[in-house]
Amino acid sequence: MGSILITGGAGFIGSHTCVVLLNAGYNLIIIDNFSNSSPSVISSIAKLAKLEDKITEARLQLVKGDIRDKELVTQIFEIAKRKGTRIIAVIHFAGLKSVHESIQKPLLYWDVNTSGTRKLLEVMNEFSCKVLVFSSSATVYGDPCVIPIDETSPINPINPYGKTKAAVEMLLADISNCQQRTKPFQKSPTDWRIAILRYFNPVGAHPSGEIGEDPKGIPNNLFPLINQVAEGKRDLLHIFGNDWPTIDGTGVRDYIHVMDLAEGHKAALEKLLRSEPQLLTLNLGSGKGHSVLELIHCFEEVTGKKISYQIANRRAGDSAISIASPKLALKYLNWSTQKSLKDICDDGWNWQSKNIYKNKF
Ligand code: NAD
Ligand code: UD1
Repeated sequence: MGSILITGGAGFIGSHTCVVLLNAGYNLIIIDNFSNSSPSVISSIAKLAKLEDKITEARLQLVKGDIRDKELVTQIFEIAKRKGTRIIAVIHFAGLKSVHESIQKPLLYWDVNTSGTRKLLEVMNEFSCKVLVFSSSATVYGDPCVIPIDETSPINPINPYGKTKAAVEMLLADISNCQQRTKPFQKSPTDWRIAILRYFNPVGAHPSGEIGEDPKGIPNNLFPLINQVAEGKRDLLHIFGNDWPTIDGTGVRDYIHVMDLAEGHKAALEKLLRSEPQLLTLNLGSGKGHSVLELIHCFEEVTGKKISYQIANRRAGDSAISIASPKLALKYLNWSTQKSLKDICDDGWNWQSKNIYKNKF
């Protein structure tokens, strides 16, 4: 049986997707340099997938390394081929994701997110592995003109991070369009099968509390910050503006439970494996919007924890509302979100509170 290469599989979304794929019977190889994750996640993934110790090696392999190391990535493909577990598809999560950091370090972001992806594609091409699921982001839409945002909305990234995602999307469109000459004067369509998944706001954790979002350094995103206030790690949350044209003046986002997102990756992978060469570009979101205050109130209700906050100025680069139209994902993948905002708060806090315990003892 072939295997699936998961780049960045130790990260937040990657680890949850690995659990879903292992439970569905796939054999996985993870490559991760642990720049934003920890090797201990691998044993949690194995535990959640109920892998017996003796078969773990065959079902789940870990390679510590960087996707920009073309020699290493080539070796991974070669060894898998030699062992009879050829890599048949790649789910490409590895990348850097902080908007703020991307403004400070644009060269690094272009190198990891864009050059790293190009090198990975070159190796895939060499080994005729042409099935790819790529992590893009709603950030490629910039400040959206129409809500809900569908996939035909203009691409207008407004920060280096978003620009790297948009650039990879363009590269993928090019390789998907390119025609290969099989015989002189005869062209056949490309054989790439690619799904570009534009995530909205991924949050929550595995219901077991075994894995979740574990950002290194100071988080910029709302949900980890709410968790840290609940944990007592910070005194209060700054709400970036209460004068937005929204239900209560605070920003509205489409929060998606990471387990729903993981299921979306499985659906995309399976769609590609059984269909004709194609390029699918799909939003993964719930289609529902919640304001900052709604999220805080739901979190307080579910966890019984008080979240102190202060209204601050708007954050540069923010938009009032971002909500996905998830219709195309339903049509092509037969996928839609199943989890509620309450599940997000419940599972997110369960993970965070178990993590505090782990850190203390
Ligand atoms: P994450 O940081 O938790 O996971 C990324 C993983 O990739 C980490 O384990 C990190 O160590 C690894 N990595 C980074 N650079 C690498 C490199 N050069 N070589 C090998 N491994 C490397 O992030 P995540 O939230 O799981 O996001 C996964 C993907 O989804 C990213 O590409 C991100 O841009 C995209 N995305 C994330 C969000 C979000 O809010 N979490 C939203 C939209 C898109
Ligand atoms: C941010 C990024 C986006 C990226 C996404 C997921 C920016 C401008 N956008 O999106 O490119 O794809 O993360 O990684 O950074 N908020 C507060 N106080 C806080 C933090 C956030 O009020 O301390 C508000 C924001 O104004 C927003 C909402 O909470 O209305 C969600 O913010 P966040 O979690 O950072 O996600 P996005 O801004 O949607």
